[in-house]
Amino acid sequence: MSRLWGGRFEGGLDQIAKAFSFSIEIDQRLYPYDIALNRAHAKGLNQVGVLTEEEWVALDTALIAVKQEMDDNVAGLMDDDEDVHSLVERLVVQKVGSIGKKMHTGKSRNDQVATGMRLWVLDTIDPLKEGVVGCIRSLLQLALRYEHQLFPAFTHFQPAQPTLLSHHLLAYVSMFERDLTRLEHARVSADCCPLGSGAVVGSGFPIDREFVARELGFTRVTDNSIDAVSDRDFLLDLLAMAGACMVHLSRLSDELVLWSSPLIGMITIGDSYTTGSSLMPQKKNPDIAELIRGKTSRVNSAWLTLASVIKGLPLAYNRDFQEDKGIVFDAVDTLMQALGCMEGMLQTVVFHPHAIEAHMQKGQLLATELADLLVKEGVPFRDAHELTGKLVALADREGKTLADLSATQLKSVSPLIPEGILAHLTMGSAVSSKNVLGGTAPNQIRDRLNHLIRIYGG
Ligand code: ARG
Repeated sequence: MSRLWGGRFEGGLDQIAKAFSFSIEIDQRLYPYDIALNRAHAKGLNQVGVLTEEEWVALDTALIAVKQEMDDNVAGLMDDDEDVHSLVERLVVQKVGSIGKKMHTGKSRNDQVATGMRLWVLDTIDPLKEGVVGCIRSLLQLALRYEHQLFPAFTHFQPAQPTLLSHHLLAYVSMFERDLTRLEHARVSADCCPLGSGAVVGSGFPIDREFVARELGFTRVTDNSIDAVSDRDFLLDLLAMAGACMVHLSRLSDELVLWSSPLIGMITIGDSYTTGSSLMPQKKNPDIAELIRGKTSRVNSAWLTLASVIKGLPLAYNRDFQEDKGIVFDAVDTLMQALGCMEGMLQTVVFHPHAIEAHMQKGQLLATELADLLVKEGVPFRDAHELTGKLVALADREGKTLADLSATQLKSVSPLIPEGILAHLTMGSAVSSKNVLGGTAPNQIRDRLNHLIRIYGG
């Protein structure tokens, strides 16, 4: 057997056209799914009497043997193997001759490829989930180790207010938890079996589609054959998750790059996730974090690239869809690697409390707290803001922090400022006073940590 569609053609495909159109290099990784769906389909054909018991057993045995050969990498490709579907069929026909030629009864590569991709996505969700949970666990370990460490919170990358380092780290946990929700959504999207939709209008044989779907582990079947062979929303949903997750990894990477610069010096990243320079002997560069940040653009554009493939296509299947695989495999492979790198890299990160505390002396981190203290003394907030602004200007002129101003200096700005107010102005009390749900107060962080430990261990 050569091509799957030879009948009406006299000549073969031009060599350039062949090289341009064959997808076997990219889609052969779908073989376990293609074999699984062929087995389920053959069983379905037997159930409704289209295949005899012997024919079905022969096909099933051949498919199992082909799977083994492919696992062992001994199947061997031939020049006419266009895609994974034609490859699997050729190998089956080689084993069982004309019975193999019955395998494609009542199905098309159109419902087949849609089913294979869905099965691949469903198998990809758990490893991705493990990758995300791995990052959550590494962050949780760091947050537990540095639970009480003070840290500058930033807005506009300007020192803003004191926080706990654990609070900052747990911000990323919140992001990754949203990615887990996105993964569950991608799972629901993919969990719907198109098999039985045929090329476009449904199978001409009375297959029990729900039986076949259950055989493959799907919980639902598609409800419109025209949509089923041309729907790639489940891939867009996975790519949306991949993009969002890479954005989170990228922001974290960006902070690791900044924090590890000798100019900031708040962390050291371990040698196993940094590299040297071929020229400058002193360098210890955060290349892995930079590459996560860099590769994010590839993964982010994947959604748009696939959406652009789909957007102008008339219903139903068009060969353009073949482009989906390269885009999706690349994005998911990159995300998997990035998650693994981030999980491992975080385990090597050491924070430097002295450097962090030295940085906290810059930027008048306690200004908002001072304004809040004035409010608690009865000063309207807008006035308190104004007064504190003046005190900040004074302290900056004197090269001091707000807490170092003298009673006379306070009075020089306004008699409204109570003497002794500065006694309450400490980093620790500023943090403790943010005692709202989701705030940085130590007991809020403890509650959150306890909650996370219950879910992810700790
Ligand atoms: N390799 C094709 C793809 O990925 C399989 C489906 C081919 N269908 C067709 N009608 N030519 O989309």
